[in-house]
Amino acid sequence: MHLSAFGKIASVSVLLVLGEGQLLAQEADQAAREVEQTLHLTPDIENGRKAFALCTVCHRPEGWGSDDGTYPQIAGQISSVIIKQLADIRARNRDNPTMRPFTSPQLLGGPQEIADVAAYISRLPMDPYNGVGPGFDLEQGKRVYQKECADCHGERGEGDEGEHVPAIRGQHYRYLVRQFDWIRMGKRRNADPKMVKQIKRFSTRDELTVLDYVSRLKPPEEKLGQPGWHNPDFPKYSRRPMSRSRFQPPPRPSPPLRPQGFERPERPEPPPRFRPNDME
Ligand code: HEC
Ligand code: HEC
Repeated sequence: MHLSAFGKIASVSVLLVLGEGQLLAQEADQAAREVEQTLHLTPDIENGRKAFALCTVCHRPEGWGSDDGTYPQIAGQISSVIIKQLADIRARNRDNPTMRPFTSPQLLGGPQEIADVAAYISRLPMDPYNGVGPGFDLEQGKRVYQKECADCHGERGEGDEGEHVPAIRGQHYRYLVRQFDWIRMGKRRNADPKMVKQIKRFSTRDELTVLDYVSRLKPPEEKLGQPGWHNPDFPKYSRRPMSRSRFQPPPRPSPPLRPQGFERPERPEPPPRFRPNDME
């Protein structure tokens, strides 16, 4: 058969696309098998504490993350969700190049260690002052949440253990925004296809108000840590300053609601930069 140059290029790219599709399916299968195995195990919390030492490098002993969104809060997350995320990250079904080396079987271990560390993390008390959004229109955020998210993520953002839907309440606002954007643009491969469909037509305003509302949904009192709590399981952990001090006062109450149709003022143009060539 004679193929034109265009035909050749087209058929090669079809092969490439198919190849990659198959690979992705394999990764998802591999992760799903590991999740299935792990969910049946009885966790050993003490062993989970030991395994968590590895994670404290980035997530810190409290698992509270950073409110600039670099690291998520993982403390208090549903155990089955942590298990699924770990399995997805290590099977490359969710891209996380920073963390992936730490999830290798050599460092982290097998399904038992995953079950153990997930159980340990899910029991950690949560950050009482997580990063929240600007508080522009929380009423709209609430309306959108109840209509578009509550069915899956729960009335108070508590998630769903059986369906491994993440708890999202009390998560750092900026992390929520990053994940939401990645889910929408297809960058987070393990995203829930139904959620992707649901949020496709969202405006930026819908997105930011709903995530602001979510970040302010408080977990129940008994799940929250004391402000400035340090995890006593890691007394020798050396603390470098993070993006902000943990000992900050509670977030300020949100500003009064804006009248309908309020738009954020545009940012002023930055002053023109001086370039040496302009001298000529
Ligand atoms: C080198 C730094 C680093 C180490 C070590 C690390 N993580 Fe992470 N982890 C991250 C980053 C960064 C993210 C967020 C990635 C993103 O934005 O998608 C993350 C995300 C996660 C998430 C997903 C949270 C969510 O709600 O989406 C879980 C669960 C998690 N880590 C658990 C662990 C566990 C358990 C360990 C130890 C075995 C660990 N991490 C070690 C950097 C690290
Ligand atoms: C059809 C069910 C469904 C709906 C509707 C849905 N989600 Fe999700 N969402 C999920 C599932 C399942 C995941 C986890 C996917 C995975 O990693 O396996 C998720 C993940 C997320 C994450 C990432 C959390 C993390 O810790 O990494 C955010 C943020 C999020 N959803 C916000 C929302 C918001 C806000 C809405 C409403 C506008 C919404 N979702 C609607 C099912 C849903």
